Amino acid sequence: MTGARDWQGTVGRSWAAEWRRTDASFAELTPHLLALIATQPGECIVDVGCGAGELSIALADARPNASVVGIDISADLIDAASARTDLPNLTFEQADATQWQPRQRPDLYVSRHGVMFFPDPPQAFSHLARVAAPHARIVFSCFRKAVDNAWVVGLAELLPAGDVPVAQPFPPGPFAFADPDHVRRCMAGWRDHTFTPVDFRYVAGQGDDPVGEALALFRRIGPAAPALRDLPQNERSGLERRLQDLVEAHLEGGRVVFPAAAWLVTASSDHRNG
Ligand SMILES: C[S@@+](CC[C@H](N)C(=O)[O-])C[C@H]1O[C@@H](n2cnc3c(N)ncnc32)[C@H](O)[C@@H]1O
Repeated sequence: MTGARDWQGTVGRSWAAEWRRTDASFAELTPHLLALIATQPGECIVDVGCGAGELSIALADARPNASVVGIDISADLIDAASARTDLPNLTFEQADATQWQPRQRPDLYVSRHGVMFFPDPPQAFSHLARVAAPHARIVFSCFRKAVDNAWVVGLAELLPAGDVPVAQPFPPGPFAFADPDHVRRCMAGWRDHTFTPVDFRYVAGQGDDPVGEALALFRRIGPAAPALRDLPQNERSGLERRLQDLVEAHLEGGRVVFPAAAWLVTASSDHRNG
């Protein structure tokens, strides 16, 4: 489980330090998400759990007449996002999306993997619908089942037995939205859901030293990171060796890549009172 406190602490700091690598890891997914968002009208767009802001920046750039707001619960990630751009139609705000009050009612919410971490998803989605314009739309990506995401299974298998963080599907975390029926139940205040599967390669490392890049990513991000930080030295070096083997086994055409699977989800607000 990854909750608000994790994002406001170590996990958020790690993502803020690693945004170039996390953006690269999603490089084959992001164009699919942007293409779907491009089919949706929106003048006041909010990127929920915007992280270091890649999606917000792309949208503000593509739609100069729209206003784009990226919101995230992590101050470190909002600082990282703000430092990347000075587009006049884009602002970033540190806020908890489950309670956030917009200055202007959004007509389009977007998110790349930012909506699976709410402690009480029906409350959060109902709140987002209530503060939005009538008939607002939402488009987001989330991971499908952990077993279809070889990067997380591979990393989890390296960990000491019993320390497999992907076993339970529904607590807030990267795989909380793997099951469409569960997502529909979570999305109180939203209707007409669509779920489009996208298979892509999760790019863990590329460039001059793809193995080194992937190792650097997995030391900070994902299921092996806490163990690599906290294990005693003698156990840590064994884990480091197994991690190196895993990464080298996925070196393909100059990149370290893992099969990955996501949903692209759309829905319309059911909230009629505006
Ligand atoms: C997996 S990261 C994705 C970040 C970014 N969308 C990206 O694609 O790089 C999930 C993000 O959701 C944010 N988040 C989690 N809970 C949140 C909440 N209640 N309100 C706002 N942001 C939240 C985290 O801080 C984190 O930046």
